[in-house]
Amino acid sequence: MSRSWFLILFTFFLTVHIALAEPLKRSKHRSHQNSETKGSADSNSNPLLHSEPATNPSIAAGVTDNSGRIIVPSDYHVKYDGAQVFRVTVNNSKGRKRVNDLVDKGVVEKWRSNTTSIDIMAKADKLTAVKQYLEKAKLTYEVVLEDVQRAIDEENPDISEEELALLTGRKGHRMTFHKYHRMEDIHGYLDYLAQTYPQLVNITDIGRSLEGRPLKVIQIISGHPNAKRFWIDGGIHAREWITPATVTYILSELVENREAQDEYLKKIDFYILPIVNPDGYEYTHTNERLWRKNRRQGTTCTGTDLNRNWGFHWGGVGSSKEQCQQIYAGSGPFSEPETQAVSKFILANNAKMKAFVTFHSYGQYILYPWGYSKRVPQDYADLDRVGRAAAEAMRLTGGGAYTVGNSAQLLYPAAGASDDWAKGVAKIKYAYTIELRDKGKYGFLLPASNILPVGKESLAAVKAIASEIYKGK
Ligand SMILES: *[C@@H]1O[C@H](CO)[C@@H](O)[C@H](O)[C@H]1NC(C)=O
Ligand SMILES: *[C@@H]1O[C@H](CO)[C@@H](O)[C@H](O)[C@H]1NC(C)=O
Ligand SMILES: *[C@@H]1O[C@H](CO)[C@@H](O)[C@H](O)[C@H]1NC(C)=O
Repeated sequence: MSRSWFLILFTFFLTVHIALAEPLKRSKHRSHQNSETKGSADSNSNPLLHSEPATNPSIAAGVTDNSGRIIVPSDYHVKYDGAQVFRVTVNNSKGRKRVNDLVDKGVVEKWRSNTTSIDIMAKADKLTAVKQYLEKAKLTYEVVLEDVQRAIDEENPDISEEELALLTGRKGHRMTFHKYHRMEDIHGYLDYLAQTYPQLVNITDIGRSLEGRPLKVIQIISGHPNAKRFWIDGGIHAREWITPATVTYILSELVENREAQDEYLKKIDFYILPIVNPDGYEYTHTNERLWRKNRRQGTTCTGTDLNRNWGFHWGGVGSSKEQCQQIYAGSGPFSEPETQAVSKFILANNAKMKAFVTFHSYGQYILYPWGYSKRVPQDYADLDRVGRAAAEAMRLTGGGAYTVGNSAQLLYPAAGASDDWAKGVAKIKYAYTIELRDKGKYGFLLPASNILPVGKESLAAVKAIASEIYKGK
């Protein structure tokens, strides 16, 4: 078949698909809202909320097979030319609901929120309508990112293949800390560490992702029989590229710069998983930079939010049962192989595990449970104290200012997240979510020149927590 015939056919199927799928999607959206936005009917009369299709780009550009599954062409690449990120000030529940209505209908995508503001991204074709909507709702907003595609084009400078080959020849791996790397480079570095430091480092495939990629945990073995254990992970949300880079940096310092570390650090066993969601992570490199979830194929949309899928208060406030939402909790607790594998591994190793740190971006927060409600654990004073010690250590590296507190109170309730499960089920005392840089200038598109400073401040946080658990009973 010639190329032009293929294009014509493709366009035809696309049109038919959108025409058929739209009414269905809209009725679903109406029947199931996420719990943050239940309530008044008045905003339903706004034309923007009616006329706009749900913008899951994979659906918009995909073709379905006869069982209704979405087939995304492998060379399909989402562009964000002219898309902008707005920061909307929201100081009451009405304003918050107005913004969340836009999010729930897929008109804009939420990037970040706390109790006083919400960052949303609007694609170029929606900018005018979204601005008018916000103005009509009397909401104050500012543009924090002028051109999303430009930020994407500039965040990750290329390293030449020659330079990478040179690196491989000299060091035996391709990893650097001035570029965001693909999974293969990160995993190659883990294998290199395991080969180079066999006495110190043990590598375990704890399972496979949905698409069959390995989940590689590195253990740094102190050799002390009663060593306390410390879990660290990154990359559960695909687009938060700074997190696998940061976790890999921490790992490199703990292993390759071991002589420089304090004695207490060498007496702790670390368990480190740089990429919890490798399918999503790879997809952000190949197809859609701002993808968040894993790649679970649903009947209406793709992807489960792996940080709403954990079996502790699963499906509660701040998660969704609707596949097209970014915070879709999955079909049940631990419905996804990634969360299954990690939880199983942690439960098999949680005796003596005293710290659990999961890295996210962005906003610069050190958050402790609970996320499922605005309650705090009984020993929250300990979590708060150690969290503050970590924030102070980060500041002392010359790094960013991090705010410490309970996640549901500082940001928003979010049930089914991994730190709640770590605390509530695995009984790991010091469970934290650390939201790395920045505060919104680049958001998820933090330039790679930040990897080293963020890595250094994050290592300082890990050391501060490690020092506390080392001293503790
Ligand atoms: C709430 O925000 C609006 C604009 O978004 C502003 O006009 C108003 O003064 C704010 N109210 C308070 C109590 O901060
Ligand atoms: C290394 O990992 C394997 C599992 O892959 C485990 O059986 C073994 O006990 C580990 N070794 C140490 C020293 O922890
Ligand atoms: C919410 O986030 C914005 C942007 O980072 C920040 O300026 C503001 O102080 C935060 N609000 C609170 C209450 O921390």
